[in-house]
Amino acid sequence: MMVDTKLKRTKVSDIDSGHIGKQLFLQGWIRTCRSQKGVTFIELNDGSTIKNIQLISNQEHPLLTGASIAVCGTLVKSPSPKQPFELQVESLDLIGEANSLFPLQKKGHTLDFLREIAHLRPRTNTFGAVARVRSRMAFAVHEFFQRRKFFYVQTPVITSSDCEGAGELFELITETKNFFGKKAFLTCSGQLNGECFATALGEIYTFGPTFRAENSHTSRHLAEFWMIEPEMAFYDLSLNMELAESFVKHLVKTALDECSEDLDFFEERYEKGLKERLQIVLDRPFSRISYTEAVDILLKSKKEFQYPVEWGKDLQSEHERYIAETVVGGPVILYNYPKTLKPFYMKANDDGKTVACMDVLVPKIGEIIGGSQREDDLTKLEEGIRSHGLNPSDYDWYLDLRRFGTVPHSGFGLGFERAVQFITGMENIRDIIAFPRAAGLCSF
Ligand code: 4AD
Ligand code: MG
Repeated sequence: MMVDTKLKRTKVSDIDSGHIGKQLFLQGWIRTCRSQKGVTFIELNDGSTIKNIQLISNQEHPLLTGASIAVCGTLVKSPSPKQPFELQVESLDLIGEANSLFPLQKKGHTLDFLREIAHLRPRTNTFGAVARVRSRMAFAVHEFFQRRKFFYVQTPVITSSDCEGAGELFELITETKNFFGKKAFLTCSGQLNGECFATALGEIYTFGPTFRAENSHTSRHLAEFWMIEPEMAFYDLSLNMELAESFVKHLVKTALDECSEDLDFFEERYEKGLKERLQIVLDRPFSRISYTEAVDILLKSKKEFQYPVEWGKDLQSEHERYIAETVVGGPVILYNYPKTLKPFYMKANDDGKTVACMDVLVPKIGEIIGGSQREDDLTKLEEGIRSHGLNPSDYDWYLDLRRFGTVPHSGFGLGFERAVQFITGMENIRDIIAFPRAAGLCSF
């Protein structure tokens, strides 16, 4: 058959049985190639899907894994039960060769090793799947909020105020001395800026890079991660919780509906029961337990924890996971923590001891969301700032939001990588972001 040179490229993800008998033009990278006795079998992947397409050529092409090619051919039904169809090659062009030094010639590398070749790991099944799910989840974030008529606000990456007060800021050093006229940092949260727009537009969300110089070498912490922070005027803590629950459910549902091939791969390769675990998230309301109740439950559990449990002490990941995994068996919202454990902006409860905050905890990971109702009373907010050892005059602009037309309002932050980690079942957060930055890690 003559090759039609005007053929448009087809993505492998778009090929279906309707293409059988038709001529297709494909471009991609060779995953495996066997060439002998005048026949070549190639597994081609073009990144659009986890699935490879099998190419069969009646010529020998001694090509190596990793090479890029363009092929024209006719789609035929496959005689093998492994795949529904294959491409009978009519012309094959080598675009870029690969040689025996290509690190992915060999299969079965560990995730630890692949982290050292972060520039090539997107060409593996695992990292292709993570990238596709992550991309779809980012779109789902916008879908969720835009459908609810929230406005997307881009808050600054460079800031002069510490929102969380946790002393984990990266400070900016410039060659021009004192460039900003004051100390400047990479943001650890867009919340305070977000509040300026929530008290003008009503309901907004941010979605951007976030930085924390936390020296924690865990599978759940990054120095650079992405956070989604909705902020809503006229919302109390209870409406905030409802929104957080719907948001997590929307992400999970979208993953189940739209990323099922990739989730099948994660299920088969990394976590048996993954899809069932996600389905349970959709089917059940999130439990709600106050911090005080949680402490009681932990004390009564008689379980030996590494960190002791005591009212007034922060819950550690082992406690959070025990509650989500063993006590509840699904997502749970813990609320009303002691005010001494939480940042200055959270609304004081009438008991004088706790604040109107919430953390959403999930099995396997622990906290994926932290949020609160905000203190909307000027005097109480000033008190909160002082009691956290901060200076109200540094937050003058933020206090203006309470001086002029203050309203009850609430918001939360979802760690995007933790959410994608939860959805894919991947063990380490460093495998969820393309080029991970963490203490001691800033390659590529
Ligand atoms: O609980 P956090 O610190 O809350 C805030 O920053 C608030 N200003 C949010 C708000 O109310 N607008 O962080 C929110 C979430 C955490 O629950 C976690 O999922 C994620 O951000 N997170 C991290 N993810 C990866 N690496 C880290 N080092 C993270 N620190 C927080
Ligand atoms: Mg938190």
